[in-house]
Amino acid sequence: MDAALFDPVWRVDDLQWPGDAPARARWTFLIRHAVLAPSSHNAQPWRFRLEGDALELLADRTRAQPVSDPSDRELVISCGAALGTMEIAARAHGVALDVTELPEVRRPDVLARVRFGTAVSGAEAQSARRLYAAIPLRHTNRHPFDSTPISGPDLAALQGQAARFGIEVRFLVDEGQKRRIAELVAAADRILGRRPEFRRELADWLHTNDRSARDGIPAHAQGLGPLASLIGPFVARNFDWGPLKAARDQELALASAALAVLVSPADTPKLWLATGRALAHLLLEATALGLASSFLNQAVELLLPRMRLQEDLSLEGKPQLLLRLGKPLRPAGPTPRRSIDDVIESR
Ligand SMILES: Cc1cc2nc3c(=O)[nH]c(=O)nc-3n(C[C@H](O)[C@H](O)[C@H](O)COP(=O)(O)O)c2cc1C
Repeated sequence: MDAALFDPVWRVDDLQWPGDAPARARWTFLIRHAVLAPSSHNAQPWRFRLEGDALELLADRTRAQPVSDPSDRELVISCGAALGTMEIAARAHGVALDVTELPEVRRPDVLARVRFGTAVSGAEAQSARRLYAAIPLRHTNRHPFDSTPISGPDLAALQGQAARFGIEVRFLVDEGQKRRIAELVAAADRILGRRPEFRRELADWLHTNDRSARDGIPAHAQGLGPLASLIGPFVARNFDWGPLKAARDQELALASAALAVLVSPADTPKLWLATGRALAHLLLEATALGLASSFLNQAVELLLPRMRLQEDLSLEGKPQLLLRLGKPLRPAGPTPRRSIDDVIESR
């Protein structure tokens, strides 16, 4: 059994909002939720610096993935997801956060400066509480999903969450559309599986189930049992798994109720951060609606498949993330997180 299943990091339900306490206690509460956000390869590439009453969200580029993410695009999206999660936790307790994105041109690692803002309305706090309750329940689920269609109002609710940040969500729900996108994902898998440097980078973040690592993807989250868990990282590093993964991803994409492409108006660090904030809101809305979610991001990590995706869907903006959604057939469990003492700095 994986240690993360008993990890106290995930036990946020018992925490009390320290409403009247000094800012440091309130930030600590919010950071405990922020670190539960998804991140590429579970690298958790974020740091938080307390600066008086304000908080800085910093990119931790020592956790970058230069082969799969050479411009740190996914790294910034991951940090945006932590920020979005924190905003939901604050709103659920009646407070809006004032976010200044990339506040200092000469310090590009400072992705956001955040301050406590005004009180939110009772209705807004109540709607944030639905998403807040979903924070410890959201897990990337790499199992097949039920393909029963998602209702129109539910799709609209998911789009509405991303629209708060200027991010468009394009859903692909019919067989033909899903098939075209699944082929792009499969093509990307075949290219990536052939590249030793990509395989090495991926294998560094894949862990067996009994490792005490506080980051990376444990085998249970990849759907591997105890035996396969032991050889998973070795196989990922040394063999061209492209054709196998391509076939599997094609099946998973087709069996999902919907594929979703998150599209930003352009490709800039500010919009990557906005994409991450949108992602956190969308995934927690999905969890609150009883939907499972997972990523098929390979198609957006490579230049040519990404351009094809943009062309095929006649997107005006840039595709940033490709997700699949549907009712879960099997549950997914929590993955490890670093302790918050490892990610908070104070001056
Ligand atoms: C920007 C971004 C890209 C991701 N890309 C993929 C992907 O291509 N394939 C995948 O299986 N998971 C992907 N993930 C999911 C992460 O692996 C997952 O969030 C992480 O392992 C933590 O697990 P959790 O989401 O269950 O908490 C991505 C997550 C983010 C934020």
